[in-house]
Amino acid sequence: MTTPVSVQIEGDIAVITIDSPPVNAISAAMRRGLLTASNDLAINEDVKAVVLICAGRTFMAGADISEFAGVMAPPELRNVLTVFESLPQPIIVALHGTALGGGVEVALAGHYRIADVDAKLGFPEVTLGIVPGAVGTQRLPRLIGAANALRMFLDGKPVGAEEARTLGLVDEIVTGDLRAAAIAYAKRLLAAGKGPRRVSEMTVTPLSEEQIAALRAQARKQHKGIITPELDIQAVRASWELPFEQGLAVERAISDGSLGTPESKALRHLFFAEREVANVPGVSKADVPREVKSIGIIGSGTMGGGIAMAFANVGIAVTLIDVDQAALDRGLGTVRKNYDTSVKRGRMQPGDVDQRMGLIKGSVSYDDLKSVDLVLEAVFENMALKKKIFTELDRVCKPGAILATNTSTLDINLIAAVTRRPQDVIGLHFFSPANVMRLLEIVRTDTTANDIVATAFALAKKIRKIGVLSKVCFGFIGNRMMDPYGREVERLTLEGATPAQIDAALEGFGMAMGLLAVFDMSGVDVGVKVRMERKDELPADPSFYRASALLFDKGWLGQKTGKGYYRYEAGSRERLVHPEALALFTDEAKKLGIVRRSDITAQEIVERCVYSMINEGALILEEGVALRPGDIDVVYTSGYGFPRWRGGPMFYADQIGLDTILAALEKYGRQGNPDYWRPAPLLRKLANEGSSFAAWQASRQAPV
Ligand code: 3HC
Ligand code: NAI
Repeated sequence: MTTPVSVQIEGDIAVITIDSPPVNAISAAMRRGLLTASNDLAINEDVKAVVLICAGRTFMAGADISEFAGVMAPPELRNVLTVFESLPQPIIVALHGTALGGGVEVALAGHYRIADVDAKLGFPEVTLGIVPGAVGTQRLPRLIGAANALRMFLDGKPVGAEEARTLGLVDEIVTGDLRAAAIAYAKRLLAAGKGPRRVSEMTVTPLSEEQIAALRAQARKQHKGIITPELDIQAVRASWELPFEQGLAVERAISDGSLGTPESKALRHLFFAEREVANVPGVSKADVPREVKSIGIIGSGTMGGGIAMAFANVGIAVTLIDVDQAALDRGLGTVRKNYDTSVKRGRMQPGDVDQRMGLIKGSVSYDDLKSVDLVLEAVFENMALKKKIFTELDRVCKPGAILATNTSTLDINLIAAVTRRPQDVIGLHFFSPANVMRLLEIVRTDTTANDIVATAFALAKKIRKIGVLSKVCFGFIGNRMMDPYGREVERLTLEGATPAQIDAALEGFGMAMGLLAVFDMSGVDVGVKVRMERKDELPADPSFYRASALLFDKGWLGQKTGKGYYRYEAGSRERLVHPEALALFTDEAKKLGIVRRSDITAQEIVERCVYSMINEGALILEEGVALRPGDIDVVYTSGYGFPRWRGGPMFYADQIGLDTILAALEKYGRQGNPDYWRPAPLLRKLANEGSSFAAWQASRQAPV
């Protein structure tokens, strides 16, 4: 096996090169190699300076995250870095690409740092629920000050080379040949008689309790539900309270402990799940994505406008179509307004608005779609209308153009069938607001060609979204699982739980927003109208989604009407008690013979909502609608506000134990409507075997 660490001697300078594609993640072999190189160089009197550089597209992107799940092979990075830092020669670390986590910790053990002008440096550990463990929490405060260091750990986002220089994290910025620049830098140091400059020997100015409190408050807002920021604070505190060696021991205990927390396991699961989603069995490198340089969007409403922004934001030209000039003006007006808001909030420069609006061309003629590479339809949710539009698109669009629909519920197989090119038809299901939400469900029909699927994934990446593949079924992955979730929250209002109580339980679990508050925000009418369209397929249960139907009849559609599950003062989104709605639910319960209970606990609310969703997820897996349990987790954490630190519903189910979930499904089946609580065969089977969704998935992937 080739070693990832090699040393080249150039005159009196040794260059250590790390080469481990794709991102130079720090493996055991790398740690061993760096230790050996350090020990050798320590006694090599001919070497007067040492340069450390990485080959490939980036400096080390951190520790190899896949190693965290097991026992890590020696030597530990922290110990390797002690040896590395103590080299008698000055060490120059040359950074490029994205130096992250352990990568920056390696750089901190060097004595001088230079960076390529495009380099980024950061500590994303907090997003993985872990505390840096290779002495970063002790060295960084010494180098750039405790406040800046803590800010970097708590924020998790990388800083650019220029900011890194301002912070004192790098000494010089380089354009062009980084290796040559590093050697030249080393020679300059030697000529100036400069020796090692060890960060561990620097001192730290303590932070005041007020400063810590301010940083903590910001971190709590940014990373809800996890304890990692608090652990970061504890570790950094040791940098000024204790001598370096003792601080190192504190960090070791805190960092090693953080690896074992449930939140860290969940966040690491998502790290890999988010990268696995693009791996579609049957779609290979041979399925070369088609080029998409121009887009047509039909419908300039809520979704069409947001989707146009998502493309314009990455420089892709959009032709936006609507029925007439008035509708178009309305749509384009909303887009401009949204951009203006971004400027007001400091998220965009005023000049950017014109540039982006310049990329969005309005039109009322389908003929303007003749040359676009992809058309996305986002008109009203109506099958006849969509079929008409796809017939027209088939006539107008050039051969090879991709025809996509943003439908949230309709059968895309039927839409594809009206064209003479069903292989080119696909669902691209965006989430509102489409310019913000990360999730994109990529819905393949029975006939969608592989290269179209590949194109959809490439496009998702281009517009900075996470694409997850779904097969066609009602609601695809996300909305289908919302169906039982919504059914339970609505039913709970009739059984005696108040909206505030229900939403508090869900938010206590970690959901970004309680579902009834979501209904009020997006409009109670949205779901009611969908159910009206589907009324023949719905259960013959008079309590099914009854609460929203009652509100709809009263015209209480949520925030937009000032009343819904909650009441709202004009111009405010604060949820106030809406006594008339509560009375409505109480009366209806009486009419339907539903016993009102005062003993509904937060646990019952969460279990009924989340477990019913998990059960639907199991059906989705069995039917092959989702490729993997992890795909469902990505859908829910990136599109539905499910807490990331719980890893998504299917990961969460495994943590709870499928036997526990099965027992709860059976209990709620006895307590309520057994039809709703019938355990999915897959869930029952795995629970009976003492297995898990993760183990099931691993067994499916294992080579036969
Ligand atoms: N460990 C293991 N695998 C990693 C990895 C890591 N730190 N970083 C990336 N990879 C893998 C990915 O899983 C992917 O594998 P695949 O091709 O088999 O799916 C491959 O490298 C390429 O990654 P991306 O698809 O993400 O490539 P991008 O070019 O889009 O992004 C990146 C590159 C910005 C470096 C991004 O991969 C990233 O953010 N990586 C995570 C970095 C991170 O979190 N580092 C901190 C680790 S914890 C740590 O260092 C603790 C320390 O204190 C000891
Ligand atoms: P909307 O009502 O806001 O906008 C629809 C737009 O389509 C209107 O501007 C209308 O004038 C235009 N339109 C209607 N017929 C047309 C035609 N023949 N040619 C050109 N334009 C036409 O609707 P919204 O909310 O944007 O939804 C659009 C689609 O996206 C629907 O299929 C919906 O199910 C789906 N969707 C909606 C989400 C949401 O949160 N609103 C989320 C995900 C998908």
